[in-house]
Amino acid sequence: MMNFTIPDKTHDESRQGEALILEPADGKASGRKLYIESYGCAMNFSDSEIVASILSDNGFETTGDYNNADVIFINTCSIRENAEQRVRNRLREFTIAKVKNPGLVVGVLGCMAERLKSKFLEEEKLVDVVVGPDAYRDLPNLIGKVDDGQKAVNVLLSREETYADINPVRLNSNGINAFVSIMRGCDNMCSFCVVPFTRGRERSREPQSIVKECTELFNQGYREVTLLGQNVDSYKWKSEVENQKSEDGNVVNFANLLEMVALINPELRVRFSTSHPKDITDEVLYMIAKYDNICNYIHLPVQSGNSRVLELMNRTYDREWYVNRIDAIRRIIPECAISTDVITGFCTETDEEHRDTLSMMDYVQYDFAYMFMYSERPGTLAAKRYADDIPDAVKSARLKEVVAKQQQHSFARLQAQLGKVQRVLIEGFSKKSDKDYCGRSDQNSMVVFPVNENYKPGQYVNVLVEKTTTATLIGRVV
Ligand code: SAH
Ligand code: SF4
Ligand code: F3S
Repeated sequence: MMNFTIPDKTHDESRQGEALILEPADGKASGRKLYIESYGCAMNFSDSEIVASILSDNGFETTGDYNNADVIFINTCSIRENAEQRVRNRLREFTIAKVKNPGLVVGVLGCMAERLKSKFLEEEKLVDVVVGPDAYRDLPNLIGKVDDGQKAVNVLLSREETYADINPVRLNSNGINAFVSIMRGCDNMCSFCVVPFTRGRERSREPQSIVKECTELFNQGYREVTLLGQNVDSYKWKSEVENQKSEDGNVVNFANLLEMVALINPELRVRFSTSHPKDITDEVLYMIAKYDNICNYIHLPVQSGNSRVLELMNRTYDREWYVNRIDAIRRIIPECAISTDVITGFCTETDEEHRDTLSMMDYVQYDFAYMFMYSERPGTLAAKRYADDIPDAVKSARLKEVVAKQQQHSFARLQAQLGKVQRVLIEGFSKKSDKDYCGRSDQNSMVVFPVNENYKPGQYVNVLVEKTTTATLIGRVV
């Protein structure tokens, strides 16, 4: 098995715009060299690990320098226009490398590949391969076609593909946190969202393969898994096997799956993303409350605090429903941290409706939020039905208000931790100093504290919180 390190992560406004570059840790082996860069959500990062696995089985090794590569892959995101623009800019740079090295293969993977299909080959003449998210098993064959002088495209979406049997090559070298995909695709049709078009129909992965992957991770020293899906609460597996953990005959739902993973070992922390307000059940909340190793942290995107806008967004819940879910979380898991996603300036949103989003934020007091201006995406329901009629200046002014409010709330939520003891999983040295360790609390706050010789990364420590910055808790081991 090959090892990789991540030399660099650059951030833009959101987790949907993060680039990840891969580099082998050991520099061993011969063979063709692959350079892969990922943009977008955790799903894409997890998919790049599947791609690396498929290609390492076919004799490829990876490089962190694209100038040394024989194959460059860019795993792309379409969620907002600026996400696509970043990818186009990056492709320009790869194009220069290709002029120097005509044998170089340049491939576009992921959501933009799926959205634009063979149009990509017309628009970006130096791209050789276009591969959608369900077609990665075909990569060795497609590279072979390019070697034979052809352009290659596979953007078939599947109703079954989950890559369940592929053992991902872990691209995160800290050896402590890992992403595990539990489902693919999305069947919701939020009117603003391109994901159902780029990722296809929702399908869940067989639960035993998830448990097996998480168990192997634990045995390798990993101490935290994040279960990934666009809507984890609709996870569903109808088993042929008798007596698999389940309340409803042989159906394994998300609450059952959480329990199966939590039971692997109490020292393995379980996180998950993303929860959907329409589907998150009290059964899931009670499961989180029942197991100490299921983290008290829920990402529950609200998008808007106004029921009319939510209806136009086709989110299928209204303000009252969302508030009810928040109240249930506060009742069943009083210590739970909650984060959200907000879109400002969706089609026809009035000032008053925007203020409903602000008042929702005041009600919930989110620990954290990802906030975006609405970006119209071609082919979505909103693009077909509604004019993108809120001027950019208004979208941006509303976004500023949302961001300012969230900064106050995030800070207040951190301040509330002062004087409390947090159980922290040590992830490594802090970014600023190797005299400090950093790690996250159960509630997903970053905690920094002086290195203590009795502990090392991958272990849990109790940290007394003594100070905060705007985004981090600072303390000492007790
Ligand atoms: N499956 C998750 C969201 C995935 S996309 C869920 O349903 O919550 C992540 C976030 O990007 C969304 O929650 C939304 O806030 C934002 N987003 C999606 N499409 C967008 C668009 N067209 N313009 C602006 N933000 C968008
Ligand atoms: Fe997009 Fe909605 Fe599916 Fe989330 S639930 S991925 S926002 S369509
Ligand atoms: Fe982007 Fe595709 Fe994820 S559009 S947010 S990479 S599912």
